[in-house]
Amino acid sequence: MSPAPFAGHPLTRVDGALALGGVPLDRALAGLRTLEPAARAAYVYDLDAIVARGVRLRDAFTAIGADAAYAVKANALHALLEPLAALGLGGEAGSLGELEAVRAAGFPAERRWLNGNGRTPEEADWVARLGARAVNADHVAELDLLERAAAAKDTRIRVALRVNPGIEAPVHRYVATGDDEAKFGISPAEALEAWAGRARWPHLSVDGVHLHIGSQLMDPAPLLAAFDAGLELAEESAKRGAPLGSFNLGGGFGIDYEGGEREFPLESYARTLGERARGRGLELVVEPGRWVVASAGVLVAEVLWVKPRGGRRFVVLAAGMNDLIRPALYQARHRILPVTPRGGAWTAACVVGPVCESADVFAEDVPLPPLEPGDLVAILDAGAYGAAMSSNYNGRGRLAELVVSGGLLVRARAGETPRDLAGRRTRDEIPMS
Ligand code: LLP
Repeated sequence: MSPAPFAGHPLTRVDGALALGGVPLDRALAGLRTLEPAARAAYVYDLDAIVARGVRLRDAFTAIGADAAYAVKANALHALLEPLAALGLGGEAGSLGELEAVRAAGFPAERRWLNGNGRTPEEADWVARLGARAVNADHVAELDLLERAAAAKDTRIRVALRVNPGIEAPVHRYVATGDDEAKFGISPAEALEAWAGRARWPHLSVDGVHLHIGSQLMDPAPLLAAFDAGLELAEESAKRGAPLGSFNLGGGFGIDYEGGEREFPLESYARTLGERARGRGLELVVEPGRWVVASAGVLVAEVLWVKPRGGRRFVVLAAGMNDLIRPALYQARHRILPVTPRGGAWTAACVVGPVCESADVFAEDVPLPPLEPGDLVAILDAGAYGAAMSSNYNGRGRLAELVVSGGLLVRARAGETPRDLAGRRTRDEIPMS
């Protein structure tokens, strides 16, 4: 039997075919082939579902007087960013490229936040010239860089210090960021010292605390523990004569990749934050990425081969780990469904990609119906950290990205062709001094 696939998910079936935003995925890929004849896989996003999540996020945090910024690293496709900016959400960037993306999408300066633990002079200069609500600094020495950039433009930059609270989040260790082993943030003691000595940076307002302890948390308890730790720090800093004005809590809201009924309790989490922060005079900010876009995106891919070997059924897809690296990198399990299931028994399959790596496996043992070359499957919940983390490994062009809204299908980013990749070569003589 096929598992019940769509709990809490924007997918439906239309005439037997899996559909996103009402558009059957087989027709979406066939349509793409009129533009890209060799396309055998693509990302497809339901923009209306993303906007609905954006509205929920905005409303939950507006209700407590807080700001919500979308972390664009999850998916920075312009066609998604623009409508999220129009909702009044903020945009969280982690690099110069993401700063450009949020600006191009229409996030105004007062709704742009900058993160990152490798601050560069170019980022500092960008913020001094074009503006951001705040920069979250990851290192005290970074403040000197920001000070120089702000002074050069005769402006002020608002800064929060990213503090590592030493809280272990129960998540994959590659997405845990708030424990003592992590590379992120500074110690509470260093932060207190920097806030107390902030007059040293006359062009900065160093008055915020920033915490982001990890990603893909279903239970908000560790986030609330981090929040309490941050509130204590703010109190201590005020006692030492340096009251704080803002508190950025990062992101980390999880989604249910298994497709059950579990949901991150967004609204009650927001209410709890509001209650605990009441009367403390702190501007609150959250910056989730995954929660907004993950479930509204699928990776649809053609079956290239079905190969029985060693008693197993290997299903080789036209998409690989270069397109979606989460299973290989974090042992993440994404549901995989046939777009139009054939009749017959569902049996175990090992679903793999075409990349020359044994880690190029989407699922070791997933129930699927009989499949033939040319059939399509959909990898679910691929809207976050999918296309955004894709690469050209094995000489593979990154996939086209399609957006459905109001029943209309749009190619929002063209797939890369072998010719595009070959065309990148140059022969530029480098002058050496
Ligand atoms: N704020 C900061 C400072 C972050 O580093 C991140 C994510 C976010 C916000 C947004 O986190 P979210 O709400 O999406 O959990 N590639 C991994 C996730 C890495 C998250 C990196 N930082 C994955 O595919 O699971």
